[in-house]
Amino acid sequence: MKIFFLGDIVGKSGRAAVVKNLKNIAQEKKIDFIVVNGENAADQGVGITEANSKELFNLGVDVITTGNHVWDQKETSQYIESETRLLRPENLPSNSPGKGFGIYHSKNGYKVGVLNLMGNVFMKKCEDVFEIAKLFLGKYKFREDYDFLIVDFHGEITSEKMAMGYFFDGKATLLVGTHTHIPTNDCRILTNGTAYLTDAGMCGDYDSVIGMNKINSLNRFLKKESKKHYPAEGEATLSGLIVECNTSNGLAKKVETFIHGGELTK
Ligand SMILES: [Fe+2]
Repeated sequence: MKIFFLGDIVGKSGRAAVVKNLKNIAQEKKIDFIVVNGENAADQGVGITEANSKELFNLGVDVITTGNHVWDQKETSQYIESETRLLRPENLPSNSPGKGFGIYHSKNGYKVGVLNLMGNVFMKKCEDVFEIAKLFLGKYKFREDYDFLIVDFHGEITSEKMAMGYFFDGKATLLVGTHTHIPTNDCRILTNGTAYLTDAGMCGDYDSVIGMNKINSLNRFLKKESKKHYPAEGEATLSGLIVECNTSNGLAKKVETFIHGGELTK
């Protein structure tokens, strides 16, 4: 059983790289379940449209996770109610549209739980993420409700992500961070068997400032004349990880980061 996870897809160039490569990679690496974070997939680099989601599902993506930008495209709050494969953070206020968790079927017939959480530090206001995680672990049982569990922790700071990794250690197949758009180099299997990576990085043009046009972003920091952030359009790097799972206990057997094409391979 192999899980492929790709970090935040940013704008047109991020989508183009996914369209160009995903099917081939999935075939070549014998992937059974694919999760991508799609919260920056829209042309503007914020939010995700129905068309963006459908394009990803048609490529073989099983579940799309999101984060702080989930509602940035107006149509999403309605679309998410009819598409259970599109998740928003579980710890948004409880009256928010959509869901933050679902159980899906992998191509090889296993039940895979996917949980989307969002950090509390330097992020939009949402429910206490550790309280929600505690409630989740009280409600669902690993290996009873699902064979494998993937947790996307969308957050800004490394300590919060590591702490959540330890919280889920032995109770999830994978806990992977998203949101910073910078891949970290700490991919490993934790003591009790959960694959962990602080941040998967983005699928976007790295000749940029976290996927946005670098000159415009720098001008904003310099308080010079600038426009609203807009995505860089050079060739994107695909960034994420692949987990090989132990089918007898649902935990990770092997995990490795995945970097393909664009600026990061130069
Ligand atoms: Fe984000």
